[in-house]
Amino acid sequence: MTYKIAMVAQKGGVGKSTLARIIAVEAAKGGLQTKIADLDTQQTTSVNWAARRAENGITPDIRAEAFNSIETALKDADNFDLYIFDGAPHSSRETQKVCHVVDMVIIPTSEGLDDLQPSVVLANNLLKAGISAKKIAFALCITSDSEREILGARDYLAQTPYTVLAGEIPFRSSFKTAMDKGKAITETSFPTLRKKADTMAQNIIDAVAIAAKMEVA
Ligand SMILES: Nc1ncnc2c1ncn2[C@@H]1O[C@H](COP(=O)(O)OP(=O)(O)OP(=O)(O)O)[C@@H](O)[C@H]1O
Ligand SMILES: [Mg+2]
Repeated sequence: MTYKIAMVAQKGGVGKSTLARIIAVEAAKGGLQTKIADLDTQQTTSVNWAARRAENGITPDIRAEAFNSIETALKDADNFDLYIFDGAPHSSRETQKVCHVVDMVIIPTSEGLDDLQPSVVLANNLLKAGISAKKIAFALCITSDSEREILGARDYLAQTPYTVLAGEIPFRSSFKTAMDKGKAITETSFPTLRKKADTMAQNIIDAVAIAAKMEVA
């Protein structure tokens, strides 16, 4: 069986590819056959990142390929244990389509209302389109260091029927530097930051495993 997960958002630049990469790397380290399906055929940022990773000799190797058709990607998914759809910058009909076929949908969002509101609108639209609230989760990404703001965001999201993952990924230039070298942010050399990224990766992997089991049951 293939676990499938999608990173989607209403806005661009919110952390979809960053999360796709930590999941791919951490699951691969755990021995799972993993691949990223890059749905951004214009930028192919995850494909380019995987190429940088290979050029720099970073292991484990991560497979990534661009797809403009969910159907073609799904045929490919059968060959893997974990298949990660890295969504295009803005939500579209393809976004809804991919959300129907995955076990878990992750919506990265920062803590300001400018980010929270469109994130909740997207989740509500997915719910209206028939996607179970149980398989939609928000992940706080590219956040500030204000605990008060982050708690406020958690309170806001707690009023929705969706999961809010524990932990958050703060804005740090060293995360950007790590990804520039083809690393995932769980592979940064700063232990405290690595721990934050690890926690998020683990929470997402746990969430997809639980959601997949619920679907099977
Ligand atoms: N926690 C962070 N700290 C600093 N920079 C970050 C962090 N997370 C992501 N970035 C940077 O922010 C930018 C957007 O992140 P990312 O590519 O993951 O978002 P995205 O949602 O996939 O964007 P797009 O919609 O363009 O596909 C990238 O340049 C990335 O390197
Ligand atoms: Mg991206």
